Amino acid sequence: ESSASRPALLLDWYDRHRRRLPWRAAAGERADPYRVWLSEIMLQQTGVKTVGPYFEKFLARWPDVGALGRASQDDVLRMWAGLGYYSRARNLHACAVAVLRDHGGVFPGSEEGLRQLPGIGPYTARAIAAIAFDIQTMPVDGNIERVVSRLYAVEEPLPQAKPRIQELAATLLGASRAGDSAQALMDLGSSICTPKKPACALCPLNEDCAARLRGDQESFPRKAPK
Ligand code: ADE
Repeated sequence: ESSASRPALLLDWYDRHRRRLPWRAAAGERADPYRVWLSEIMLQQTGVKTVGPYFEKFLARWPDVGALGRASQDDVLRMWAGLGYYSRARNLHACAVAVLRDHGGVFPGSEEGLRQLPGIGPYTARAIAAIAFDIQTMPVDGNIERVVSRLYAVEEPLPQAKPRIQELAATLLGASRAGDSAQALMDLGSSICTPKKPACALCPLNEDCAARLRGDQESFPRKAPK
């Protein structure tokens, strides 16, 4: 329906097709900031399938950020073994210590506050703010970059186009449910708006996707010549 807005079409699709992932809350419930943070750090360089069991293991041993902050760094590194990029694990522990010591074991509820914590950059701060605190901000990962660059046929190549794509991605936020909007785009990018042979017939945003209207989906996002 071209009469419905993109944010509404996206959320409607998410309600019907969202992936059940261990860190996601049940429909209509707000996600626990600890679970969102832990999953986002693990997902930075590791795929959803690998992360699942690690996420469950961490949660069983350290059910909240305070428990993780009281653990030894060695125990955290041992539990992390196999996920790679061990600076993530050291920052994870340092962040839990900081939340426990400086914030009474409660994650700050703003992008700015989150940004002050070890290991939390602009993307992760946006992801936690949107998914756990329903703040109207859009975390843009590689999947979302591809969806948005196709939807708007962004001609500027990556990485220069990043600020423009961030701006355009924000147009897909509705009045609420920012975290669901972001995760809808992540799911869309991983299952439908794939790098090769995207399944446009199944896409809730296909009617006014600029790249599809030109029959040129796979050429987006544009990359700077090497
Ligand atoms: N990749 C990073 N964050 C994610 C999330 N919340 N859901 C699915 N994939 C992700």
